[in-house]
Amino acid sequence: ASEASDYDIVFIGGGVAGYVGAIKAGQSGLKTACIEKRGTLGGTCLNVGCIPSKSLLNNSHLYHQILHDTKKRGIDVNDVKLNLAQMMKAKDESVAGLTKGVEFLFKKNKVDYIKGTGSFVDEHTIKVNLTEGGETEIKGKNIVIATGSETTPFPGLEIDEKKVITSTGAIALQEVPKKMIVIGGGIIGLEMASVWSRLGSEVTVVEFLGQIGGPGMDLDIAKQSQKLLAKQGIKFKVNTKVLKGNASGDGVKLDVEAAKGGKNETLEADVVLVAIGRRPYTDGLGIENIGIELDERKRLVIDQEYRTKIPHIRVIGDVTFGPMLAHKAEEEGVAAVEFITKGYGHVNYGAIPSVMYTHPEVAWVGQNEAELKSAGVNYKVGTFPFTANSRAKTNLETDGLVKILADAETDRILGVHIIGPNAGEMIAEGTLALEYGASSEDVARTCHAHPTLAEAFKEAAMATYSHAIHF
Ligand code: FAD
Ligand code: NAI
Repeated sequence: ASEASDYDIVFIGGGVAGYVGAIKAGQSGLKTACIEKRGTLGGTCLNVGCIPSKSLLNNSHLYHQILHDTKKRGIDVNDVKLNLAQMMKAKDESVAGLTKGVEFLFKKNKVDYIKGTGSFVDEHTIKVNLTEGGETEIKGKNIVIATGSETTPFPGLEIDEKKVITSTGAIALQEVPKKMIVIGGGIIGLEMASVWSRLGSEVTVVEFLGQIGGPGMDLDIAKQSQKLLAKQGIKFKVNTKVLKGNASGDGVKLDVEAAKGGKNETLEADVVLVAIGRRPYTDGLGIENIGIELDERKRLVIDQEYRTKIPHIRVIGDVTFGPMLAHKAEEEGVAAVEFITKGYGHVNYGAIPSVMYTHPEVAWVGQNEAELKSAGVNYKVGTFPFTANSRAKTNLETDGLVKILADAETDRILGVHIIGPNAGEMIAEGTLALEYGASSEDVARTCHAHPTLAEAFKEAAMATYSHAIHF
């Protein structure tokens, strides 16, 4: 490689972890390159994840609300029609705007964007198979692997993104399927079930566990969420295991059985969405050429400063430990660069919020009741329902509650769990409280504007150490 292709730092993968890290590195004065093979920056999140799914969730919710929830508000509407092609176009435009925005930020921060697939030749050298043809080699003093994750396949069901789909197919269907089955009642399953059920599909979610929502969601909240989603028309089969599938005919057939042994049945649908989790992605990266370690779940093994056993090679985002969330990946991008430039960095893994963008939204941060119980922590619970919140009442959106868990002795907040309107925005306050080590009394004594949904958060905090006023 020539002198010109030597970099202080090279990111492999231009997803949220890699692109944020690259911008931070550029801002810190490092000579920076980012290799991305997709053709656009932003990774799973911007191209086929967070952003397109939220566009469809928002617009399908509006459509559903206009169909079912306007009369009592004094709005009569007629002749409401779905224009799915336009809904998809609006989604594609949001995605294109944001991915181009990242490209602009690369230029602004002097990051070299190399389009192609990177693979390790040795500990400092990466060969790039260029998208436009040909190949090049670049060297990095530091290298950061940020290659993300992919859908975990369901054995025996081949993905064609038409009849048997992953989330990538689910954000791009060209017509509303008559019947859809979702394997896995985690966050992807429930968000996509919401979209297609609102648009008119008959959706059944099959979940292996007794509880929907995936890892981390508090049981009380998960139960409420399931009840509210069922009211919207989504059918649930919990405690149910999918044994095998067959997509050879017109539709797809799934053999399922009760998880604890028992009844077998065959379910049929036009489309089946596989949403049983995601797994780290390292295909074609050539890690065998440098001998870094993977754990039993194929996550790249790192220390607290994101270093592999080759210390100048670090790993961030979905391809390593921790929750597979965009904001976690982003925090790691910044921290990894700070470890290099300053010698210290910071991500508080105890205060990473999770949001499920269904309606109502579900959001949480910190520990849930089951986790506190199994850790033997003595805790108090304060709850406040949105039925008693003035803004929720005026908005005619009273489903849900705020639940705060605090240490019984010190009153320090240990977990915040919300189901309700705008829960995803409100959780920022809970996250800040956790980050600052606030007590529930600290929050309860903070003046909150009236009338806002956030007052429910303040009153749940009051209920944790004393009594709520309005309930
Ligand atoms: P990725 O975003 O997967 O980026 C990795 C990039 O590396 C990819 O673009 C890939 O093309 C590239 N790459 C891989 N190998 C190579 C190579 N050898 N050479 C060059 N490039 C390579 N998270 C949230 O926080 N909020 C949400 O609302 C949310 N919604 C989601 C919805 C869906 C449908 C899905 C699937 C995920 C969602 N997520 C959400 C999760 C989020 O998308 C991920 O946590 C996030 O994208 C992880 O970022 P990353 O940079 O680690 O990996
Ligand atoms: P998940 O881990 O959240 O949920 C998978 C669900 O499938 C679990 O409830 C599991 O019990 C169930 N399951 C597994 N095998 C099964 C089987 N054979 N039959 C029936 N059920 C089975 O994974 P999901 O939903 O695929 O999401 C992947 C990742 O993407 C998550 O880690 C999530 O953090 C991220 N994501 C985040 C979003 C957000 O923040 N809003 C949105 C979408 C995805």
